[in-house]
Amino acid sequence: MKVLVVGTGAREHAIADALKDDVELYVYMSKINPGMSKIAEFKQGDEGEVEKVAAYAVEKDIDIAFIGPEAPLGKGIVDELQKNGIKCVGPTQSAARIETDKSFMRKLFEDYEIEGSLVYKVFDNSQDVSEFLDEFDRDVVVKPVGLTGGKGVKIVGDHLKDNEEAKEYSCEVIDNVMGGFAQVIIEERLIGEEFTIQAFCDGENLAPMPAAQDHPHAFEGDVGAITGGMGSYSDVGGLLPFLTQEDYDKAVGIMKATLKAIAEEAEPYKGILYGQFMLTADGPKLIEYNARFGDPEAMNVLPLLKTPLYEVCQAIVDGTLDEVEFENRASVCKYIVPDGYPETEYAGELIEVDEEAIEDMGAKVFYAAVSQEDDGIHLSGSRALGIVASGESIEEAEKIAEKACEFVKGNVYHRRDVGTTELVNKRVEHMKEILN
Ligand code: GLY
Repeated sequence: MKVLVVGTGAREHAIADALKDDVELYVYMSKINPGMSKIAEFKQGDEGEVEKVAAYAVEKDIDIAFIGPEAPLGKGIVDELQKNGIKCVGPTQSAARIETDKSFMRKLFEDYEIEGSLVYKVFDNSQDVSEFLDEFDRDVVVKPVGLTGGKGVKIVGDHLKDNEEAKEYSCEVIDNVMGGFAQVIIEERLIGEEFTIQAFCDGENLAPMPAAQDHPHAFEGDVGAITGGMGSYSDVGGLLPFLTQEDYDKAVGIMKATLKAIAEEAEPYKGILYGQFMLTADGPKLIEYNARFGDPEAMNVLPLLKTPLYEVCQAIVDGTLDEVEFENRASVCKYIVPDGYPETEYAGELIEVDEEAIEDMGAKVFYAAVSQEDDGIHLSGSRALGIVASGESIEEAEKIAEKACEFVKGNVYHRRDVGTTELVNKRVEHMKEILN
């Protein structure tokens, strides 16, 4: 079987790695990923130029295309590939609105009475925003309606001082048409612990993966700018130390109801559905959906897959998805980023990665926003590589991942606290406080 992975980063490297032993592998990527370039035939090009990607897939006689990032999904890459006879793991443009149009997503919850939603409103002018926020006596989250590469969401009590600043930012979002809509969505701020559940979907059936928790803040102790994610962990049993089976099942129930609603309202959803939830005193609430694997969370679950990924892909496109099995192990991913990230001065610098030493320790390297050039691996201004380890416990996996990070040299940084017992316990205590 010939499989084309579309995308350039660590998430796509993890997808490609899970496929590499079983398929003839191709990659379409904007920069030369040092990991994927070694395991696949590839073409360098902009993944958002969907006609060009489709032409490459036709030229290579691809059976299945696996779309990694959200931006090409928003541009209709799946529609274009399908038009050319290529089957896809990834939703059509219409079904991908679950991520690319947050007002569509919230309205779906309302219209189909799906549990786990929250108080929200969509606005297209500053007057209405002001009136709403003057009445609303709780902190809020301000979100552009469309895609902003993870950089548009601002939270009162985090990036914004109070609801007055939320008003100012809301106007900025509307006036600058951020994310492609002259609208803003304002949601109540939820208090709790965030967790991620990713699921394979074949349009009708859903196979959930182990839960994971990401660490969006740039620096140790959960401070600093919100980033794409500085690392993540998953636990044995597929749950998290603060997440019960009942919570997990409720969250999966919300995702199943959503899958049914998308099929009725848009088109059957085939691909990966990523649910970001907040576990609150009232149970899991949906913060947002992504129409793709999480980054870094893909790196937690894909190395634990027992069912071969190519079989899962075939079942997704055929509509015959059943249970998908994972090893019953914990995992920890630590993201290595340029020093100072997200405001780094080290973009373009060389780094050294001793892959052999990392692999000898039982860890894995997944390359992100770096590029392979003749003289070695160069940093960009974004996340550089994920180091992932698994173990019998989070503690064991964390120790291996932390040690493996020593084999990356250069002006780089990682959060040493991701997956540590101290930080995991802090999460557990936080959740206990909320439930009491
Ligand atoms: N981990 C956050 C994301 O993938 O969007």
